[in-house]
Parts: sequence; C-alpha cells; structure tokens
Amino acid sequence: MNVQALMLKKKIQGMENLPTLSASVTHILRLLGDENVNASKLHEALNRDPSICADMLKVTNSALFGLRQRVTSVEQATALLGLRAVRNIVWSASVVSVISGREKDVWLHSYSCAMLMHSVIRSSNLQVADDMEVTALIHDIGRIVVMDFSELSNRVINDVAQRDLLPIHLAERQVLSASHDTIADWLLELWNMSPSVRIPVSLHHQETIPDQYLLETALLQLVDYVDLRARGVPASPPPPPLLEAAGIDRAIIPELVAYQEAQVAQVDGNSFLAGTADAHGSRPPSLAVRAPQRR
Ligand SMILES: [Fe+2]
Ligand SMILES: [Fe+2]
Repeated sequence: MNVQALMLKKKIQGMENLPTLSASVTHILRLLGDENVNASKLHEALNRDPSICADMLKVTNSALFGLRQRVTSVEQATALLGLRAVRNIVWSASVVSVISGREKDVWLHSYSCAMLMHSVIRSSNLQVADDMEVTALIHDIGRIVVMDFSELSNRVINDVAQRDLLPIHLAERQVLSASHDTIADWLLELWNMSPSVRIPVSLHHQETIPDQYLLETALLQLVDYVDLRARGVPASPPPPPLLEAAGIDRAIIPELVAYQEAQVAQVDGNSFLAGTADAHGSRPPSLAVRAPQRR
C-alpha cells in the first residue's frame, strides 16, 4: 500500500461516523462465532434485541434463502438454517439496515446482485463459501463509507465519473487514491469479518487473482458487472485472467446480462425490507465452471 493510501486508511478507520455494528450485534456475533455456543444463551441474546430479531427474520424469510415455510422465531431459524447461516444473517441484517436506509441506488444494486448470486450458484450447482449471497448484499458498503468520508470528495468523484463516463471505482481512485472495495476492507477489518467475505469484497474491482476464495472473488466481480450492465451503469468487466483462473467462461456474460435486465425490472428491494419479497423468476443460464477450485 502506498503512503497516500495508508494515510487514507488511518483517516477512514478513525472516522467518527463510520458505520458501526451495535454492541448487542457484536456480542451476538461473538456468541455465534463459538462452535460450542450454548443455544439457549444465544437465543436469549437474540431475543433481547427485538430490532435484530425483526431484521434477521426479514432476511431469513426473503427470497434469498428460498425457504418453503415462514420462519417466525430465532429458535426456528437456527434449527432450520444452522448457526453459520444465522451468523451471516445477523450481520447482513445489520449491514442491510446501514445501506438500505441511505442510498437507494446502492441498495437496489446490492440486492439484485445478491439475488443473481443466489440464482447463479444454485442453477450451476457451484461449490462455494456459504455466505456468498450476504457477500453480494454488502459488497458496496465501501460506497457508503466514501460518501460519509467527505461530501466534497464524493461530489468530485461523481462529477469525474459523469464527465468521463467512468465506472465509479476508477473515479474514486483518481480522487482518493483508493476505490471503495479497498476502503470496504478497512471497515471489514475493524469488524473482524471472515476472509470468505473480506477477500471477494476487497478485490471486487481489482485485477488480483487470489490464492484463497478465487471462485468467490470471480463470481462477485461477474455478478457485480452483469448487474451494472443490466442497469446501464458504466462498469469494468471482470479481468479475463481472473475468470479463466476460476474456470468461468466469459461467453456467458451477454446471456447473464439479458437475464438480469429482466430481473432488475422486477426485483423490489422494498418488499425485501418489508419481508415480503417473492421468489426469483426464471433460472439464469448455468455458468460453465470447469473444475473444483482451490481454496
Ligand atoms: Fe463496487
Ligand atoms: Fe457493485
């Protein structure tokens, strides 16, 4: 990291208005991180915070999990989905409330990326980390941090992007010397997030081919690009060497964009927030992935 980026990291990690997870979310995540956690202790902690419970049930009952029955209690959610999934849901619910209450465009894009991620993984039967929908849901959290960091910088970033028809991450690099994927990682570092989330999020606008979570990183870049294209927003395509290393055939992109154009018209982030989102429509084209990937 160059000196400029290091200084920016220090400033950003020291921001007073940096999105935070509440003390009770942090406590619950700590309990969920312990494999031998006592279930009644966990349920007690969850039930003590009605807003976390409500948010968690919203995410659990959303189309992202495709459950046949409606889940009405945290006890039922842990029994049906397991601790690991509940951990992801608790923190995604907290992050969702940070994004959705702020920037409608970022939220709708994040939500339709998560839906596409879910459909692509399922229709192609991909073996990937089990938090990929959540990773897609929060992948642009760094945009919120950039907006809060400096109103002036954010205005200049938007002006540069509009004037030069640049993807936003390239404008951020011109103005701030780092893009929101790198900046998101500084936040996720403070939040102690797992590498399965941090690696794909921190690399979603980079050329890097990671040793770990390669397929997850390539999928996030692909889904992000496809959704931005479907929305007519300037975007950089995933680097061909990354897709190749992950075994993803680039030829699938136009078909995925056409699929997502139809989805974007239907996906409703508001019904997701209200906990009434319907299941996704048609299945996306299956992704051709050659072989099981390194982790
Ligand atoms: Fe992004
Ligand atoms: Fe994005």
